[in-house]
Amino acid sequence: MIKLGIAVTDIEDWTAKAFIQSAREKGIAPVIIDLRNAEADIGIDKRYKVMQTELTELDAFIVRDMGAGANESTTFRFDLLRQLENSGTNVVNSPEAIQNAANKYYSSYLFSKADIPIPKTKVTQDRNTAIKILKDFQDSIIKPVFGYKGVGISRVKDGKVIKTDGTYDNTGVDELVDSSIRTRGMLFIQKFIENPGRDIRAFIVDGEVVGAIYRTATKGGWLNNLSQGGSAQRCILTPEQEEICIKAAETIGTLFAGVDLIEGKDGTYVLEINATPSGAGIHRSWNINVTDKIINSILKRF
Ligand SMILES: Nc1ncnc2c1ncn2[C@@H]1O[C@H](COP(=O)(O)OP(=O)(O)O)[C@@H](O)[C@H]1O
Ligand SMILES: [Mg+2]
Repeated sequence: MIKLGIAVTDIEDWTAKAFIQSAREKGIAPVIIDLRNAEADIGIDKRYKVMQTELTELDAFIVRDMGAGANESTTFRFDLLRQLENSGTNVVNSPEAIQNAANKYYSSYLFSKADIPIPKTKVTQDRNTAIKILKDFQDSIIKPVFGYKGVGISRVKDGKVIKTDGTYDNTGVDELVDSSIRTRGMLFIQKFIENPGRDIRAFIVDGEVVGAIYRTATKGGWLNNLSQGGSAQRCILTPEQEEICIKAAETIGTLFAGVDLIEGKDGTYVLEINATPSGAGIHRSWNINVTDKIINSILKRF
């Protein structure tokens, strides 16, 4: 029987619980690992462990959740995953895939290199250039490069900042740009894609789409994340959309992924890929357990 670790920080999380249960149903006793407790000895006796578990003893390691934190500690956790991979553990998703997916700038570059359709995107570290881009795009989205769950996203339309509920914000565009430069040093700006008030989250496992949902923002709003009040309905992807999702997952190197798509007037675009996605939305809408499929595809490799 393989020795399987699962990185979890929130034991109440649906996906974490489902991974643990799916493993147990297959006769595997998974080792639950909170990477926030990791410690390393180097130059002494090459040990890295979390509580009592020597990480290198694991055959496979599923990363549900790495835990938030300051830059140095999250980098340390990534480095541990890389060390694990080097010592022969099958880390899923791989640290490289997780890192590429989490970085909206680099993933967008990889998508465009692979001819995957993405919204027009410009990145600058200069306030005046940013103001000009926002003017040229007319309707834009500004996103944190390492953002998630719709947090910290802004929309600027015709020189005005638009709140997530669709109403005008009192913040001026100059003020928004200056504060972004101050806190992040750069702006990642995308042309706003006119859409039917919803977007799509597709779940990919091992090169196949296992399910997709529409996420619809609250009335008048433009942010469709479920964690921001969006609601879910079943979605059947077109063959073109399936192909885009599978290619996106392959380009980033994920065994499992949540791909966010948006339907523009002239076709579907990839917004982002998530390499540590929740399976709860697909389960609620389709009664499909993605964690079961993920573990099966890992077991196939042993
Ligand atoms: N270019 C865009 N055009 C229109 N809506 C967008 C665009 N980019 C993001 N959004 C909206 O913002 C949400 C969050 O964006 P996304 O890129 O998925 O980042 P996050 O990691 O925060 O989920 C999307 O689900 C969508 O509703
Ligand atoms: Mg998203």
